[in-house]
Amino acid sequence: MTRREQIKSAYRLTGGNAGFYDGMMTYSTFLGKAVCRMVWDMNREKNLDYLERALSGVPEDFAGKLLEVPVGTGVLTMPVYRELPRADVTCLDYSEAMMASAQEKARTAGLQNVRFLQGDVGALPFEDERFDIVLSLNGFHAFPDKEAAYRETFRVLRPGGTFCGCFYIKGGCARTDWFIRHLYQPKGFFTPPYETEQSLRARLRSMYGEVEVSRVEGIGCFRCVK
Ligand SMILES: C[S@@+](CC[C@H](N)C(=O)[O-])C[C@H]1O[C@@H](n2cnc3c(N)ncnc32)[C@H](O)[C@@H]1O
Repeated sequence: MTRREQIKSAYRLTGGNAGFYDGMMTYSTFLGKAVCRMVWDMNREKNLDYLERALSGVPEDFAGKLLEVPVGTGVLTMPVYRELPRADVTCLDYSEAMMASAQEKARTAGLQNVRFLQGDVGALPFEDERFDIVLSLNGFHAFPDKEAAYRETFRVLRPGGTFCGCFYIKGGCARTDWFIRHLYQPKGFFTPPYETEQSLRARLRSMYGEVEVSRVEGIGCFRCVK
């Protein structure tokens, strides 16, 4: 299965019974599609596009140690891990409730190589340079202490390893910026300060050797080598 097919199959992993969050992340349910279009100005193609870019740092035959933080409900990544049986995957999230849903998906899919850990990205319980890949999808706009998150994800990555993922960046889509400021932030889903595409590129260049940053509407995608 290609990476694109894996992402497309994400909804099927929920057994066609996706909650609001999973439906939105996978552009699957009526309400989820409406939010993607209204808040993020994204159709299915753009949704797939940003996810493909964010996951592009994970080779299709990857067989090393991967840390995913935050895993959330795992809706986007469990289909990917299903195709990586030789990878050693650690998933971490602050919320046990979100992660319970990811664990259930892993159990349903029979994944043996994925473990779950409750924790804080700002104080990762791992030794330096443990992982070959650190993957972070849609997390940095939510993390309360972003400096600690950048520092810790860098610390646990081995030299030559890849840091990749995506998150909301401001200035990419005016409509999205409005919803974040007036709805997502007051509700506590998102926490400022936010990167712009330029500030993200500059920050990652100051930390990593090779850096690629791109944008799909209000989502910044990155792939860096330490
Ligand atoms: C928008 S969700 C993204 C989940 C998943 N990666 C996705 O793309 O669907 C943000 C997640 O960040 C987690 N989170 C927030 N602060 C955290 C922290 N300090 N450490 C670890 N996870 C955190 C939340 O519990 C939530 O599951």
